[in-house]
Amino acid sequence: MSAKKVLVTGGTGFIGSHTIVELINAGYTPIIVDDLSNSTPQIIDQIQKITGVKPAFFKFDLCDAKSTNEFISQNTDIKRVIHFAAYKSVGESVQNPLKYYRNNLYSLVNLLGALSEQPVNFVFSSSCTVYGEPEQLPVTEEAPVKIAESPYGNTKQISEEILLDTTRANAKLKVTSLRYFNPVGAHSSALIGELPIGVPQNLVPYITQAAIGKRGDIVVHGNDYNTPDGTCIRDYIHVVDLAKAHIAALKSMEKDSAENRFKVYNIGTGKGSSVLEVINAFEEATGVKANYKIGPRRAGDVEQIFGKVVKAEKELLWKAELDLPIMMSSAWAWENYIKQNPM
Ligand code: WQD
Repeated sequence: MSAKKVLVTGGTGFIGSHTIVELINAGYTPIIVDDLSNSTPQIIDQIQKITGVKPAFFKFDLCDAKSTNEFISQNTDIKRVIHFAAYKSVGESVQNPLKYYRNNLYSLVNLLGALSEQPVNFVFSSSCTVYGEPEQLPVTEEAPVKIAESPYGNTKQISEEILLDTTRANAKLKVTSLRYFNPVGAHSSALIGELPIGVPQNLVPYITQAAIGKRGDIVVHGNDYNTPDGTCIRDYIHVVDLAKAHIAALKSMEKDSAENRFKVYNIGTGKGSSVLEVINAFEEATGVKANYKIGPRRAGDVEQIFGKVVKAEKELLWKAELDLPIMMSSAWAWENYIKQNPM
């Protein structure tokens, strides 16, 4: 009998690995499927160091329908899925859209097709990028999904449509789509964290790599926006808080027999922080200087977005608890760990 088995696709990634830790802490038995295209298997050893449990791991590409069908047919007792596996670089998706449409959509369609015979509670890793530049702030789940700013964001929009249609056709499927804001930080053990490949595109890993001397000064992408200090505003959320939201989503689906089998939640803190506020929070939390210079705006950036998060608080009984200083100090501790222990 499956001891609360959960299939976690993309489970060796940044958010996936933190979610595996929280699943184990909550008494679930996670099973990782990952093609390791954007992560390293060493992360599994790190998870074992944190939890004492070495999760089962299967390496294959969900875009390969044969491997996906074989795996699911050998695991017909899987009733819970958390689907992280996807490419996620906004900039790269603009340069190479077909790579993103193929990978992010084929993998989802293959997975759903393979699972169609068994009852499944499915948590989907979505994104606030589906909102584009919101008309109202904080943005609510009812806000209109806007034309995506990038092929990456469009794959998230299309994936949500695929999931909605599939729940309508398949009464055995329940879906909770979690629209993440900006995940940052690292586990308090500093044994897992964000492992960007190449020059980080995201703000916080760039800050920590610049501060440790791995990169040049931070370039702030524009300070002429219509915001208090002229720099863009985002809703940064600690990756451990985000990981815990996935467990809350599973628990909610396990007890919820509501007819509505496709639900969407904003997963953020509800608080906006500007680029300069994040840099300042890093310096205050670590005592380390983070030098920056102002550069041109970055194509595709929205001016500001932060989420209304009361729906997740009320229905998932989940609320972010960790603040910006802890996000910064934990990201810095992880940067120092990987300097001593390269992965
Ligand atoms: C944040 C702000 C940049 C780097 C990310 C993910 C996306 C989605 C949402 C999950 C922006 C500025 C950045 C730098 C800078 N997450 N910046 N200098 O663009 O909000 O999107 O979170 O789905 O997948 O990409 O995050 O960290 O790239 O940028 O000034 O060196 O920091 O312009 O205003 P973004 P980000």
